[in-house]
Amino acid sequence: MLFIGIDLGTSATKLLLVDEKGSILNEVSKDYPLFFPHPGWSEQPAEGWWDACLTGIPELIKGFDASQVVGIGAGGQMHGLVTLDKEDKTIRPAILWNDGRTAEETDYLNTVIGKEKLSKLTANIAFAGFTAPKILWMKKNEPENFERIAKIMLPKDYVNYMLTGVHCCDYSDASGMLLLDVEHKCWSKEMLEICDVKEEQMPKLFESYEVVGTIKPDVAAKLGLNEGVKVVAGAGDNAAAAIGTGTVGDGHCNISLGTSGTIFISSKKFGVDPLNSLHAFAHADGAYHLMGCMLSAASCNKWICSDILETTDFKAAYKDLTSDKFGKNHVYFLPYLMGERSPINDTNARGTFTGITMDTNRTDILQAVLEGVAFAFRDQYEIAKEIGVNISRSTICGGGIKTKQWPIIMANVLGIPLDMLKTEQGPGYGACILAMVGCGLYKDVETAAKELVEIVETVEPDPDLVKLYDAAYAKYKKIYPALKPVFPEIL
Ligand code: XUL
Repeated sequence: MLFIGIDLGTSATKLLLVDEKGSILNEVSKDYPLFFPHPGWSEQPAEGWWDACLTGIPELIKGFDASQVVGIGAGGQMHGLVTLDKEDKTIRPAILWNDGRTAEETDYLNTVIGKEKLSKLTANIAFAGFTAPKILWMKKNEPENFERIAKIMLPKDYVNYMLTGVHCCDYSDASGMLLLDVEHKCWSKEMLEICDVKEEQMPKLFESYEVVGTIKPDVAAKLGLNEGVKVVAGAGDNAAAAIGTGTVGDGHCNISLGTSGTIFISSKKFGVDPLNSLHAFAHADGAYHLMGCMLSAASCNKWICSDILETTDFKAAYKDLTSDKFGKNHVYFLPYLMGERSPINDTNARGTFTGITMDTNRTDILQAVLEGVAFAFRDQYEIAKEIGVNISRSTICGGGIKTKQWPIIMANVLGIPLDMLKTEQGPGYGACILAMVGCGLYKDVETAAKELVEIVETVEPDPDLVKLYDAAYAKYKKIYPALKPVFPEIL
């Protein structure tokens, strides 16, 4: 038996072919662009995700016995608003998770509807990237488009819809729409009303490991797969990554150093952050989780290397960043290149370097980028501590860990051991595990994840370095409050 895992990311769709023992047989990645039609906006055409699957899956299975493929699962970038008309055509490009256009709508939801009510209805407050404020934005700014909406869905649900013809969503991803009653796992009628949405426009809800349907015959022929291949509901990419890193059960933590940066804490019981800084979402194992999300993490490194230094050789860019320099940098970086979500919830925040002097060199600047992102993770870690969540160690995944210095900086800024895994492809691997459970190979997600996920290396914090980074973090923490009033003036 073979399984396909789809990681529908922001810069690429990554596909994995996995056998029933959990070994990765092949990987294919299909890149696509991200569009910024205005500063702070972020869009992608949904068709690009589907094209990535249409071209990527035949490549993935080439040379393997395709008749052995029995299940497909997808983990996808969360919160993106995909809208289809009654002919099933996309109405406009999808508005993505890191889009900051909805400051006004977010403000309306948090102040006029009120944080307390939102939290009661959905377990969360409004953040600009969430789906509900985007729906309100569309209603106000594109009323003709809004009137044409027949179906609302999230990015990976578009792919599932193209595969199966079933308009579906899982609870983990649906949690990020601010339309789901997360505790009771159903659409909140009141929230739908607030956003002027009817339940018929919303997808049918499933657990992530449940089979939603089989691939359509014409699609099976295009992909070179059997018609009977089962498709599970899948999950938001962070929940999928949590499954792929074994972050299931109570109190386990995964850090994703991807385009976004997230701290994900699994929990068997439903619980809300009383400060509403961390998201309270459903998990793909059938339970719940808390999560903090920063909008620009590994993307800060991609930005400085690709866009500013114009290099694709990240390793060479960091060749002079040796361990003796850790904790001693005089340059600080705020990683707010797309505004910020957790914990400051400020669409106006911007990236900045502080502390530059005549002797500052390129490596100091690059180091500041890695450290600034790590300090922003520390902000989330501190919030978790404040509400009594004790994180004593974590797994770490995501493209950022390929820059070898970064997990070391992260472990010392957070002061906890970080476990690295045999399978780095968190969301894609987690999606495969969900497909395995859906196809009956394992009795539940927790059993599957425990059996398949393997830790291969642990980065331990060094107490002296932790002290240096504690002192540096105390300075970093003063920069955003000092600049906060300036940011709206320099938009
Ligand atoms: C989570 C979030 C991001 C995206 C990235 O709330 O917005 O992590 O899911 O793909």
